Amino acid sequence: MQKNNNIDKVIQKMTSSVIPACRESFSRCFGIRNRKKDCGQVGMTIYTFLILFLFVFQSSSYAGHFEPLKSIPVPKNNPQTPDKIELGKKLFFDRRLSGDGTMSCATCHMPEHAFTDGQDISLSYPTTKNWRNSLTLINAAFQKHLFHDGRAKSLEEQALFPLMSAFEMNQNLDFVEEELRVVPEYAEAFKKIFGGEVTRERIAMAIASFERTLISVNSPLDKYLNGDKKALSQDAKKGLEIFKGKGKCADCHYGVNLADDKFYALNVLENPALLNDPRVTATMRFVAKVYHYKDYKNLKEDPGRYLITKKKKDWKAFRTPTLRDISKTGPYMHNGVFNTLDEVVEFFNMGGGKGNKVLKPLGLTDNEKKYLKTFLVEALTGEDIVIKYPQVP
Ligand code: HEC
Ligand code: HEC
Repeated sequence: MQKNNNIDKVIQKMTSSVIPACRESFSRCFGIRNRKKDCGQVGMTIYTFLILFLFVFQSSSYAGHFEPLKSIPVPKNNPQTPDKIELGKKLFFDRRLSGDGTMSCATCHMPEHAFTDGQDISLSYPTTKNWRNSLTLINAAFQKHLFHDGRAKSLEEQALFPLMSAFEMNQNLDFVEEELRVVPEYAEAFKKIFGGEVTRERIAMAIASFERTLISVNSPLDKYLNGDKKALSQDAKKGLEIFKGKGKCADCHYGVNLADDKFYALNVLENPALLNDPRVTATMRFVAKVYHYKDYKNLKEDPGRYLITKKKKDWKAFRTPTLRDISKTGPYMHNGVFNTLDEVVEFFNMGGGKGNKVLKPLGLTDNEKKYLKTFLVEALTGEDIVIKYPQVP
């Protein structure tokens, strides 16, 4: 992060002294449509230089830098096709995928809740309790690490986790393959799309293809970065400056997805249910046991990324989440302890949770907090993703 900050500072210094039009926003001049008009000849020369510079030091985004939405990363071995996306959509809404036939992926990732379930701690398989907040699937296609602790590396890999999870869909993969094979419509679709029969890998591939269509598009921030100065209100523009400046939010929330794909221990308070509700405690200890955490029987808090890496620095560290469509995805944080964005902004203003070594108090005024929230709500909300519920065979 330190290195990135330095690069950003160097670039900002260079651009602001040479090209007044670039002072306001670096990305407006570099990497966007109207750059010729905005920056002229000098700008173009520096632009070329910077591209080379960035190519050498930084392959994609870096702290503080925003990018308008661009093409979605798609793995070579699972190209997007309309038929596959349609099959994935059916599977996503199909309750056969859960052990007792009551739950589909959409149970906890509802289209009308921005693909979350709107609960602090997510819904769960009957008689059990989940232990973390359901993540939105909007823009999940951009994440390099999936889950709050980053334990899955691709949407294909991720999809089989909830299927098998005892407290989510509690399904047996051998069984679900047979269940789908006997449905002629599925058997034909898999044959047509994959050239073969139903397998767990292909189920995951189809669902992942559908998930890659859930993208937040045309937000005011994108329009603004693409040159439309009027796309943000005055208050949202002030909020953007605080986001990048005094608030330091863009140290971690940057790039296309406003997320750096890294992990930080901000020491968010535990959700009281973790210890007050024995079913939540049981789930936490079960997951810890699966991840070979020695003293799982006495575990009293969520170890975060530590469960995956067993590195001390990852104790209670969680992934920086996307902030796109953030006004629709509450409650917030890995355990949903904050119901409102005001609470989240106040959390960062106070310098994060007790004893954390990552954040410092910001000293934002009431107005600055208001602008910051306006930016989050107004600038980052994309077009509604309207899903026509499929006819499940
Ligand atoms: C019972 C509720 C529940 C069901 C059912 C469920 N999920 Fe989730 N999902 C969650 C929770 C909770 C998380 C976060 C868990 C964590 O990080 O430990 C999550 C995380 C995810 C993520 C990671 C997103 C990110 O940004 O990292 C993806 C992708 C996902 N789910 C897809 C699916 C798919 C596909 C299905 C169906 C096969 C499904 N989920 C079924 C609750 C559920
Ligand atoms: C050091 C990196 C870092 C900085 C700086 C930072 N964040 Fe975050 N942010 C995170 C992490 C990590 C989480 C997830 C924490 C968790 O789940 O427990 C998060 C969570 C959030 C969430 C909740 C997202 C959700 O879906 O639950 C919001 C909103 C947010 N940050 C906004 C901000 C704002 C506004 C600022 C500046 C005032 C800021 N962040 C500064 C790393 C950072």
